[in-house]
Amino acid sequence: MKSYVVITGASTGLGKEFAFQLAKEKMNLLLVARNKKLLLEVKQQIEEVYGVDVIIFPTDLSVVENATNLFTQISSMGISVSTLINNAGTGLYGEFKDTDIHEELKMMQLNILSLVVLTKHFVQYFLQNGGGKIMNIASLLSFLPFPYFSVYSATKAFVLSFSETVAAELEGTNVAVLALCPGTIDTPFNTSAMWNTNAYKANKPMPVSKVAASGIRLLKKGKGKTIVGFNNWFISNLPRVTPDFIMIKIKKQLASQRK
Ligand SMILES: NC(=O)c1ccc[n+]([C@@H]2O[C@H](COP(=O)([O-])OP(=O)(O)OC[C@H]3O[C@@H](n4cnc5c(N)ncnc54)[C@H](OP(=O)(O)O)[C@@H]3O)[C@@H](O)[C@H]2O)c1
Repeated sequence: MKSYVVITGASTGLGKEFAFQLAKEKMNLLLVARNKKLLLEVKQQIEEVYGVDVIIFPTDLSVVENATNLFTQISSMGISVSTLINNAGTGLYGEFKDTDIHEELKMMQLNILSLVVLTKHFVQYFLQNGGGKIMNIASLLSFLPFPYFSVYSATKAFVLSFSETVAAELEGTNVAVLALCPGTIDTPFNTSAMWNTNAYKANKPMPVSKVAASGIRLLKKGKGKTIVGFNNWFISNLPRVTPDFIMIKIKKQLASQRK
């Protein structure tokens, strides 16, 4: 039976880059996102260049039932899965008093609920089928909740805390749960308002190829978490040595719009 890596959010950005880099390593892929046209383009480009098998699965993972349906459909395809990358995620920038609650609920469903549902199904599947790896995409904001990214920061704190605790429970088995924590990445995720914050000027978004390569190194290592890049590692540790009242001022300044 052919083995596949499942990547959610693979139509653009980091997920698409994971797809190309893993295809280069001769991995077969099952790619998930909403935009069927973009997924088809990725599939065609990868199959042409790397000759691996690419299955596409268009679905909206902000509808939680679709996450279970995705797993059920994969189970009936007669393929084996070695790795799941829970990468699909959206962000939202703005003052919480003004942001759209419906957008926030959809983001929580995608970034948290569907990720938990897929992790549950695949942990059980991997335990019964000889092992596997799950890599969840968290963020630098998992360590450093930023004003104006309130709900997004909280979803990513959830992803890290959830990944670390499930990984601890699975210690000694052949199932690994990993967390990749990038700082800003140069992808379509970033809106013009995000680009215009002081943070994006001070700590420039990283090339997506570097972040994906770091994720693939983490997959090969098979345990723990990676904060991508020395700058981000350093920043993630600031709250340990900085009083809260100073930290919140720094973060608010960084997350504000440039004058
Ligand atoms: N970019 C950054 O600065 C940054 C920093 C730290 C962490 N991250 C995290 O990295 C991950 C990838 O983000 P990115 O930067 O690559 O952003 P991106 O380019 O906007 O990609 C997001 C991917 O998720 C998919 N997606 C969005 N909503 C979906 C839904 N409802 N159902 C299924 N798929 C959906 C998108 O495809 P469709 O639109 O076709 O559905 C796309 O493939 C996210 O978890 C993000 O939180 C990003």
